[in-house]
Amino acid sequence: MKRHPTPRTALLLLALLGAGCAGGVGGTPGAAGLRDPYFPGLGNGGYDVTHYALKLDVDPAEDRLRGTATITARATQDLSAFHLDLAGLDVESATVEGRPAAVNRAGTEMTVRPAGAVEERLRAGRTFTTVVRYSGSPETVVDADGAEEGWLRTADGAVALGEPTGSMAWFPGNHHPSDKAAYDVEVTVPQALTAVSNGELVTRRTANGRTAFHWRTAEPMASYVATLAVGRFTTRQSVTPGGVRLFTAVDPASAAASEDVLKEIPAVLAWSAGRFGPYPFSSAGAIVERSDDVDYALETQNRPVFPGPPDTALLVHELAHQWFGNSVTPKTWRDMWLNEGFATYAEWLWAAGHDDVPVEESFDEAYEDDANWAFAPGDPPSAVDLSDPPVYGRGAMVVHRLRLALDDDEAFFALVRGWTEKYRHGNASTDDFTAYVEEETGRDLTGLWDAWLYGESRPPREG
Ligand code: TRP
Ligand code: ZN
Repeated sequence: MKRHPTPRTALLLLALLGAGCAGGVGGTPGAAGLRDPYFPGLGNGGYDVTHYALKLDVDPAEDRLRGTATITARATQDLSAFHLDLAGLDVESATVEGRPAAVNRAGTEMTVRPAGAVEERLRAGRTFTTVVRYSGSPETVVDADGAEEGWLRTADGAVALGEPTGSMAWFPGNHHPSDKAAYDVEVTVPQALTAVSNGELVTRRTANGRTAFHWRTAEPMASYVATLAVGRFTTRQSVTPGGVRLFTAVDPASAAASEDVLKEIPAVLAWSAGRFGPYPFSSAGAIVERSDDVDYALETQNRPVFPGPPDTALLVHELAHQWFGNSVTPKTWRDMWLNEGFATYAEWLWAAGHDDVPVEESFDEAYEDDANWAFAPGDPPSAVDLSDPPVYGRGAMVVHRLRLALDDDEAFFALVRGWTEKYRHGNASTDDFTAYVEEETGRDLTGLWDAWLYGESRPPREG
């Protein structure tokens, strides 16, 4: 993806024009990207989304999505125009503060330029509402590494997966992990189908052969872990002993084989909470598709998506992401190891406690695996590498080396819980992590970071 920097001269011209307008508020266009080291054009500058209200009409038989996105955002600069990320689909109209706005599209950048005298509402610090009406057949995005995300057709419907950039295939927004927001997703589907999204099911109403499902996510969510699954599902609702609302939706083809593992969700959540701190959300669950519908699991918030019945290790991994990734979210895609390293380490911890595999053994296996040494997890060479073994296995090794360096399990787990508490529902970078650890422990761990997090070659096993 390419960034579209605003030429300095154009900025200057706009500034002059703004200054020249008698009584004009002016402002400048928000940036087209947030300069993420891996996806420079991803996300948009000049505003911060606080809430998405998505009203969607999905008809899998017609392969059609019709949507109205109401985006509430706070301006972080005086804006004359701003960008949204949207891939494919046709935009029928856009309004800002209820007035028509001009829309321009180039690649995945959608520019919204309010017409008329709404500028006052786009002053830095003000909250404004944008409504975008759109429709079409959503795109399946193919990543540089060949993985499919965005909008995936399934045997009986569709599922939306958004890591790292796919969510722009089903709604316009600020699709960078640093801009988290609350969501209301209202989806109308043919009566025979179910629509499942993140958060809690607020209402479900059937009329004229169609059912509307209203899902609400009050806790901040990064758009890459937003999801929507439409299809035939066997659903179950319950409440864990800890008061977390559970909602599972399983493709009937996967239902019988999923039953036992999904029953483990409350126990896995309780076990995880004991190590990582209180579960960060008010609801949890799972969405299980068929293995030929999806190729991989994704930790979509509250409710991970699985490609067929998961095994316990995968369940542990995706639930660990609710703490590492979904509550504490990477500041940029460079910080991906903070997600995958910890989720992999959770698997190691689980295996130690349940399968008689000491963490040392998991560490040794990862250490011996050459695939984990292709690059440093703290600085993946390119976007293609973000889901490669070093981010997972070597990321988990960083966590384990930290545990060994502390040489005190109680202190180590307290440190982990302090981390999830400090950055709960926020964003954190690798620098935030190393600074936090050094501050909490009062130690200089430069050697550890240099060798395990940033070093190009495999450090000695001992020492
Ligand atoms: N985050 C997923 C997991 O570990 C895997 C994944 C899916 C992924 N798509 C990705 C990782 C894109 C990096 C980039 O459960
Ligand atoms: Zn993962």
